Amino acid sequence: VADPLRRELLGLALEAARRAGALLSEGRPADLGVAATKSSPVDVVTEMDLASEKLITGFLADHRPEDGFLGEEGASTEGGSGVRWVIDPIDGTVNYLYGQPAWAVSIAAEHRGETVVGVVHVPPRGETYHAVLGAGAWLNGERVRCRPSPPLEQALIGTGFNYVAGRRQAQAGVVRRLLPRVRDIRRSGSAAIDLCDVGGGRLDGFYERGLHPWDFAAGDLVAREAGALTGGRPGSPPTGELTVAASPGVFDVLQPLLEELGAWHD
Ligand code: IPD
Repeated sequence: VADPLRRELLGLALEAARRAGALLSEGRPADLGVAATKSSPVDVVTEMDLASEKLITGFLADHRPEDGFLGEEGASTEGGSGVRWVIDPIDGTVNYLYGQPAWAVSIAAEHRGETVVGVVHVPPRGETYHAVLGAGAWLNGERVRCRPSPPLEQALIGTGFNYVAGRRQAQAGVVRRLLPRVRDIRRSGSAAIDLCDVGGGRLDGFYERGLHPWDFAAGDLVAREAGALTGGRPGSPPTGELTVAASPGVFDVLQPLLEELGAWHD
């Protein structure tokens, strides 16, 4: 990585993610998913989420006190350096609760509003994706590229469902109409991992409505740097309204199809 600022941000993001991943792996009670009272497992996850975000923001602020933060658990500062960190301390919290392996720590660094570094660390898989704007995307240090685009009917498409009940009904309607037109659909439970897996060639495409910047910032850069196209509704970048990522030939068909199916409606 030639740019010294990006090199520094990448090193810090990788180290912060590694430390948070260790905290979450070691701190997860083995019986978390079957703990005795109804509320306690969720409370433990909330506590771990908060502890992870605190560790990450504390570590990054120690090294770069002028930077801003946006985190799922509430970190929100502008900073004065032009760099802002966008953090999901556990992406895939339901998987973390149940002991399913698809959860990740997601850290992106923006410089003057543009995402320049993305790290998605997946402790249960022993995998770390990272990407640097203009330099490429890697999985455990090996360069990754998205798959050559198949026709849509042979494409494996990931998606996710919002936690808002009314919205899920509409999302089910989109899946019902998309399912007969693709090879199959996956729902991993971590949008950050899904986006990286488009870059890593494990999915041909991914879409979801209702994501937050911390869910997609790092994974979006990994997908793009691996040669995938990403966006929102046609002509827009990925937003909370709609996030789409796919190998180029799949993207060209999937994005207008999602528009036709009304994938951003509630
Ligand atoms: C969630 C995951 C999930 C997606 C949800 C997200 P969280 O993030 O990315 O795959 O479907 O929309 O909210 O809450 O586990 O950080």
